[in-house]
Amino acid sequence: MKVDVLLGLQWGDEGKGKIVDVLAPKYDVVARFQGGPNAGHTLEFNGIKHVLHQIPSGIFREKTRNVIGNGVVLDPIIFKNEIEKLAKYNLDFRANLFISKKATIIIPTHRLLDQAYEKAKGIDKIGSTLKGIGPSYQDKIGRQGLRVGDILSENFKAKFNKLVDAHFEILKKYDIEYNWSDLETQFFNAVDFLKQFNLIDSEYFINEELKKGSTILAEGAQGSLLDIDFGSYPFVTSSNTVTAGACTGLGVAPRKIGEVYGIFKAYSTRVGSGPFPTELLNEEGERMRKEGNEFGSTTGRPRRCGWIDLPSLKYSIMINGVTQLLMMKADVLNIFPTIKICTHYQLSDGTITESIPYEVINQQITPIYTEMKGWNTSLADITKDSMPKELADYIAYLEKALEVPITVISIGPDREQTILK
Ligand code: GDP
Ligand code: IMO
Ligand code: MG
Repeated sequence: MKVDVLLGLQWGDEGKGKIVDVLAPKYDVVARFQGGPNAGHTLEFNGIKHVLHQIPSGIFREKTRNVIGNGVVLDPIIFKNEIEKLAKYNLDFRANLFISKKATIIIPTHRLLDQAYEKAKGIDKIGSTLKGIGPSYQDKIGRQGLRVGDILSENFKAKFNKLVDAHFEILKKYDIEYNWSDLETQFFNAVDFLKQFNLIDSEYFINEELKKGSTILAEGAQGSLLDIDFGSYPFVTSSNTVTAGACTGLGVAPRKIGEVYGIFKAYSTRVGSGPFPTELLNEEGERMRKEGNEFGSTTGRPRRCGWIDLPSLKYSIMINGVTQLLMMKADVLNIFPTIKICTHYQLSDGTITESIPYEVINQQITPIYTEMKGWNTSLADITKDSMPKELADYIAYLEKALEVPITVISIGPDREQTILK
């Protein structure tokens, strides 16, 4: 068997949580491979909305086991809150949740450092979710991070103190207020809580499941355009959000990757700073935000909105090796009589291109659009065989331009509002 990967092709919030939940009954295992509580993955069913930050989105499916892989950064405090919120649903965490001992731990000073660095950047700030993602990955790469498996060792407190002291030295230079004794108590309570879960060698777990013939879905967080290598650096997150990240973040060999599901919205959004060529800073953008309820699932910030951007989608498809596309939030475009599609960029020197330039952050990019007639009607009752012609035309246009089939169309936040083509 192979590991299928599902990931966002834009700047995150494409609807990964919803689709993982929809696909989960087909999978024995769902595994997160990167990112941490900067993610906010929304699932809706039976009239209830759940937002997951650390826990994989297969958790509501009784027969699906969920893995938090080695590539993830885990905040024990956020994890504990999340588990406690789920208590009323009687989920079987013993049977269905597994955490890699090699996952990196976010400690409270990582969050403080995130705040300090962002504050110091002033108007150049990344727009981080301030969950300590950058600083915790920095410590991982700097070979001084703490890992989940370390909480079981006798010298965990000593290792923690050593790291905290190093962080305090840095924090001295910044003007950040905090009550350390509260943060420390919260952290150690959460660490004790974490000890009761299945802490495993997840690379063995995943590969043994593959050998047994289990089906596995790797759930991406963030989006390809926020990737540390391929995103609009430095306005990115601190992990590899692309397919290759599933290999390193789970311990899966490249030849064991199967389908790559690429999710995108029928338009574009971005939260935080950084280039966004098709951004609409006008009333049209406001209407998109309102219609799509585009406010961050993790921070509540309004998301920037704009038309679909084919050069960046093509880039993401190339880097990820996408085999199937899933188009989300088609219903949000119901209100627009005309839909715009960005096919090319015009750079500041007048060049017209389909590629993302290296200097993407230092120049004004003008999108070149083609227009299509919108369907301008509700999609509530459509089926795969009874779509408005204009929607079918939009899909056909995108499939031709992107050279990958669109196999799923999502027309609302609920599990049920999903059309398999
Ligand atoms: P994720 O981070 O990729 O899991 O996406 P988020 O959960 O952060 O953001 C997606 C938002 O869109 C959530 O509020 C979902 O409930 C919602 N959503 C998902 N699919 C659809 C859809 O097809 N139509 C509409 N209107 N909302 C959707
Ligand atoms: P999901 O998984 C959208 C953005 C932040 C900021 C940049 C760096 O829900 O799609 P970080 O906290 O990682 O230091 O922030 O990345 N960002 C996201 N945007 N969806 C996400 O996750 C995001 N996770 C981080 O807004 O611009
Ligand atoms: Mg999200």
